[in-house]
Amino acid sequence: MSQETVLIRGMAEADLPAVHALEQVLFPDDAWTMDMLRGELDDQPRTRHYVVAELAGDRPGELVGYAGLAAAGGQADVQTIGVRPDRRGSGLGAALLTELLDEAARRGSDAVFLEVRADNAPAQRLYERFGFERVGLRKRYYQPSGVDAIVMRLVLRARPPVGFSGEA
Ligand SMILES: CC(C)(COP(=O)(O)OP(=O)(O)OC[C@H]1O[C@@H](n2cnc3c(N)ncnc32)[C@H](O)[C@@H]1OP(=O)(O)O)[C@@H](O)C(=O)NCCC(=O)NCCS
Repeated sequence: MSQETVLIRGMAEADLPAVHALEQVLFPDDAWTMDMLRGELDDQPRTRHYVVAELAGDRPGELVGYAGLAAAGGQADVQTIGVRPDRRGSGLGAALLTELLDEAARRGSDAVFLEVRADNAPAQRLYERFGFERVGLRKRYYQPSGVDAIVMRLVLRARPPVGFSGEA
């Protein structure tokens, strides 16, 4: 296993070419364009929080992962998360997800939602490990492949039920 240190820091405009290159490797069927990625960054910090995982040490500046959160009105959504194939299985995905969940908590979100491809078992395992639960299915959500999306939710703060009087 590599001894290199990986640093997680905020994503900036200057990271976009490297992020876009990695995006095409991670999501070959439906990669976001540069304009879509730039649009996400334009909403930072108001409703977005994007981070990159960068190698420190002898190859500084090399991006090996990234993740992004949208947060507004008590609800947060994992917009994206990805780790370069040669760096998977060492906890980097978990570290990126932890950063997003911490940010959702800092912003006072009640719950975090995400959509994951029904055929993406590694990502589903990661989310389940963090306590995400399946709450819905969007049929043929991903196009052109026609793969279903599983909707998952992690409740951060329970709201009291509306109109609950506390008496039987
Ligand atoms: C999903 C994804 C982000 C996970 O990234 P990752 O860096 O491999 O995640 P982790 O290392 O935290 O966890 C993955 C596995 O490694 C294991 N692992 C974690 N830390 C480890 C360590 N220090 N040593 C060895 N294995 C470890 C975990 O137990 C986990 O095992 P599992 O697959 O049986 O659940 C990655 O697979 C990916 O980028 N996929 C393509 C993009 C994608 O699908 N994104 C999600 C869209 S919804």
